[in-house]
Amino acid sequence: MNDSNLCHSILACPICKEPLIQYSSVLRCNRNHCFDRAKQGYWNLLVVQQKKSKDPGDNPEMVSSRREFLDLDYYLPLADAIGTVLSQQLRNKSGATILDMGCGEGYYTSQWQQSLAAQHFWGLDISKHAIKEATRRNQDITWLVASGANMPVADQSLDVLTVIFSRLMPQPFAKVLKDKALLILVWPTTQHLIQLKQVMYDDIKESQYNPSADLEPLFSVISQQLLEFDFNIDTESALLNLLKMTPHGQKINHQKKLSLVTNLPIKLTFSVNIGCFSKTAAS
Ligand SMILES: C[S@@+](CC[C@H](N)C(=O)[O-])C[C@H]1O[C@@H](n2cnc3c(N)ncnc32)[C@H](O)[C@@H]1O
Ligand SMILES: [Zn+2]
Repeated sequence: MNDSNLCHSILACPICKEPLIQYSSVLRCNRNHCFDRAKQGYWNLLVVQQKKSKDPGDNPEMVSSRREFLDLDYYLPLADAIGTVLSQQLRNKSGATILDMGCGEGYYTSQWQQSLAAQHFWGLDISKHAIKEATRRNQDITWLVASGANMPVADQSLDVLTVIFSRLMPQPFAKVLKDKALLILVWPTTQHLIQLKQVMYDDIKESQYNPSADLEPLFSVISQQLLEFDFNIDTESALLNLLKMTPHGQKINHQKKLSLVTNLPIKLTFSVNIGCFSKTAAS
C-alpha cells in the first residue's frame, strides 16, 4: 500500500522503467526495485551499472567552488533571462513540470523556483556532491542523482527541460519531453571568459558550435539569443573559484594563475547563447 499517499507521478524506475511509487522514504516500482531517500532529502536513482566511474560528475572541490562563485551573483543575469523565458512560455499555466538536467549545485534551478513557485521544479545531476549542495540550497525542489542519458522519469512527462552549460543528449531529451515541449539550452560562445582563455592558451579556436544540427530532426529551433555582458572580479577567492569550477581552469599552471591573481581586478566577459527548441511531435 502507498502509505504516504505521495506519488511521484513522473518518476520511473531507472532499471525497468515502471512507475516509482513513494512509500515514506522509499521509492519502489512494481518489480520491487527500491531506492531510499538520502537523509538530506534527495533521491539517488543512479544505478551502479550506469556509472562510468565510482564517483561520476563534478567532484566536491568543483561543486563548492561553483557554489561560492555563483552565490556572488555575477551570473544572475543568466538566471533572470531564463526565468523570463520560462514565465513567457508558461504564462497562464501552473503545475508545469520543469527538469534542470546537469543542475549542478542548483543555483539556477533555485532562482527559477523562487520566482515561479506555481510550477514544479526538478533538478537532476550525476554528481551526488552537487545534489547534496542543491538539497541544502532549496527544499522546494525534488533533487535527483541520476544520469541525463537515462533519466528516471516517464516518457513524455516533462513540459520543459533546461540544460545549462551541460551535455547535449538529443535522444534522451526527446524521450522525456511531451510533444511540442520546450528544451532550453545554454552554451558558451568563443567570447565567454575570453580574458582567461587568453592567459591559459596560446591559440584560441573560434567556436562555430551550434546545437541545432545535432538536435534535428528531434527538435526544431524556436529562438536563439545572445546574452553578453562584462563583469569585474576583484578578489582572489572569486577568481580562484571561477577557475576551479571549470575543467579548463583546473588545468591552469601555477605561474599563469599567479599572473592572473597579481593583476586583479580583472574585467571578464560573460557570453552565452540561449536557445529555445521545441520537441517535434513525431520524435
Ligand atoms: C558545467 S556543470 C553545470 C552545472 C549547472 N548547470 C550550472 O551551470 O551551474 C555540468 C554538470 O553536469 C553534470 N553532469 C555531467 N555528466 C552528466 C550526466 N551524464 N548526467 C547528468 N549530469 C551530468 C556534472 O556533474 C555537473 O554538475
Ligand atoms: Zn524497476
